[in-house]
Amino acid sequence: MHEGDDGPDSVVRRDRFSGGPAREFLSSMDADERIFTADLAVDRAHVAMLAEQDVVADDEAGAIFGALDDVEQAGFEALPEGEDVHEAIETAVIDAVGGVGGKMHTARSRNDEVATCIRYRLRDDLLEAIAVTVGFREQLTEVATAHTDTVMPGYTHLQPAQPTTVAHWLSSYAQAAERDTARLLDAYDRTNQSPLGAAAFAGTPFDVDRERTADLLGFEGLVENSMDAVSARDFLVESVAALAGLSTTLSGLAEDLIVLANKGLVELDDDYASTSSIMPQKKNPDTLELVRSTAGDASAALDGLLTTLKGLPRSYNRDLQNATGYAWNAVDAVTAATEVAGGAVGTATWPEEPLETAAGEGFSTATGVADLLAMGGLPFRTAHEIVAHAAEAGAARDDEPGLADVEAATREVTGSALAEFAAAEAVESALDPTESVSSRDSRGGPAPGAADETLDDLTSAVAAHRDAVQTRQTNLDDAAKRLQEVVASHE
Ligand code: ARG
Repeated sequence: MHEGDDGPDSVVRRDRFSGGPAREFLSSMDADERIFTADLAVDRAHVAMLAEQDVVADDEAGAIFGALDDVEQAGFEALPEGEDVHEAIETAVIDAVGGVGGKMHTARSRNDEVATCIRYRLRDDLLEAIAVTVGFREQLTEVATAHTDTVMPGYTHLQPAQPTTVAHWLSSYAQAAERDTARLLDAYDRTNQSPLGAAAFAGTPFDVDRERTADLLGFEGLVENSMDAVSARDFLVESVAALAGLSTTLSGLAEDLIVLANKGLVELDDDYASTSSIMPQKKNPDTLELVRSTAGDASAALDGLLTTLKGLPRSYNRDLQNATGYAWNAVDAVTAATEVAGGAVGTATWPEEPLETAAGEGFSTATGVADLLAMGGLPFRTAHEIVAHAAEAGAARDDEPGLADVEAATREVTGSALAEFAAAEAVESALDPTESVSSRDSRGGPAPGAADETLDDLTSAVAAHRDAVQTRQTNLDDAAKRLQEVVASHE
């Protein structure tokens, strides 16, 4: 579209198309603010490579770098009009240094340029999102470590099921979030590959060094095939899918906290609660409700993205311009929700007595009593039957079943005395929620010893993922320095 071909200082006519009523419709200028800095880096790396390959002269590169610095200084708001940020920056460069500025777009297209810019920017956003998930997991494991003895009710179908601990419950989310981090890291690594040098889709006769631009921009490798390079947006799909998965994890945590707060089993810090404009007594878990709702943002983004991409032919199509925003929406919403969820957990308090009382309600220790009888030699199915009888007896009195109910039920079902299978004290102990938790020391279980081991693993994984973020960040920082040095050597 850039037709300035009658001499180096000719006026570049960009208004040949898209000057009409569809101008605004075509423009991605507003959304492109997000890739302004990325585009400047991509321009610099590309021009530095062109100079090294003798495609442009060193002084020409120097002039372009000078203009790019001025564009950066002036900021996004000062850009001239353009269909998108790529065109606007090029216009600004040409306005500043004349026709030689038009050499910047040698051996490339906006198609490889925009794909590179999106990947370049998304890397930063993903790294931040990943770091936030690691911080979130750290908060969960810290609170969990302080609560390996804090008994709480565990639910299935939202009904009291078996007593567990706050540590065990929190660790379940820390472990799930560990996989979310891992998926985001995977997405990062596939995002971090360079499409630059693919040109419109079909390569270029210029002797470009794609590995050099990749290196100057901190990419770990190339999107090799030039047609794939400009067409591919599966890195967006993968990133948004990983974010949607994370938001689903968060929504479950938020819902659990909302339910527990509703039962008075967790006290949210005032910072994470909200009140009513009319009902002065209200303390509502609004932040967690918004965290819960973020799954809607993320899955909407994933759906919008997949629907936009479905059936697109090779290679570049303008639909792709609309795809990008879904990723920005998802990464912003989910990163913010992760931070808030971590803060809510980190500042909440756990009222031990109500938790322990609630942990014993609904005959939640029933399974433990059945386990005990089965350990005494009864088939588990028979033990289950005995405890079911005891449960009915308790329910008939509108009370929690006790030792006497288990004794009577054992006689009823087996014709034998309870003592044949378990000592009375052992049954009493199984009926106690705290003892019930301690008895379940199988690997990954809630008994404090088992929970400690899980927490050790979770803590090491936090450290490993922190390193993974740091390594990637250092690679980006080093590349930025390399680029800066190359540019400086021309100025
Ligand atoms: N602004 C466009 C985008 O975000 C890039 C421009 C490519 N345009 C084109 N007509 N080939 O995808």
